[in-house]
Amino acid sequence: MIQIHDKQFVPFITASEIDAVITKMARQAEEDLKGEIPVFIGVLNGSFMVVSDYVKKYTQPCEVSFVKLASYEGMATTSTVKQLIGLNQSLEGRTVVVIEDIVDTGNTVAELKKIFEGHNLKALKIATLFFKPDAYKQDIKLDYIGFEIPDKFIVGYGLDYDGQGRNLPQVYQLKE
Ligand code: IMP
Ligand code: MG
Repeated sequence: MIQIHDKQFVPFITASEIDAVITKMARQAEEDLKGEIPVFIGVLNGSFMVVSDYVKKYTQPCEVSFVKLASYEGMATTSTVKQLIGLNQSLEGRTVVVIEDIVDTGNTVAELKKIFEGHNLKALKIATLFFKPDAYKQDIKLDYIGFEIPDKFIVGYGLDYDGQGRNLPQVYQLKE
């Protein structure tokens, strides 16, 4: 058991289980993306570890980039608009694979999809290491899913609890 801030967490998924699942995800993408040079785009901060391990297992030509979703207040003060920061290349005609650490409600994925739709991609695919099906509120298809997990808070392997825990090589779940 570990403690982060005021909460206790118990071991949930080991580093070797994560490794095996990421290998499987990379193999699936290799099969699907034969003959393409996909652009893998990690969504910071949480995805830094999964992207690093994933692309090492992807043996075909590819590009790797990172973005961050920032919210700012729209002109009408009531609306919050999401903006992508860090994208500094044209993605026109490209196959983009967004790599997420976790998809929970799906709000982030929906924002990303909306933003990338404006970039004239050839195709947009979504990969996520963790998926909470019971929390998901979108119809957007997720192309590559590592683990389907219960709707409970987890930390480690890039995921944080209030800023901490990202460095843990395995994943822990909030203790009941
Ligand atoms: P969304 O609800 O799918 O938009 O997910 C929003 C964000 O919440 C994710 O990108 C994570 O940063 C964070 N998040 C969701 N569930 C967890 C969790 O169990 N642990 C840590 N962060 C989480
Ligand atoms: Mg977070």
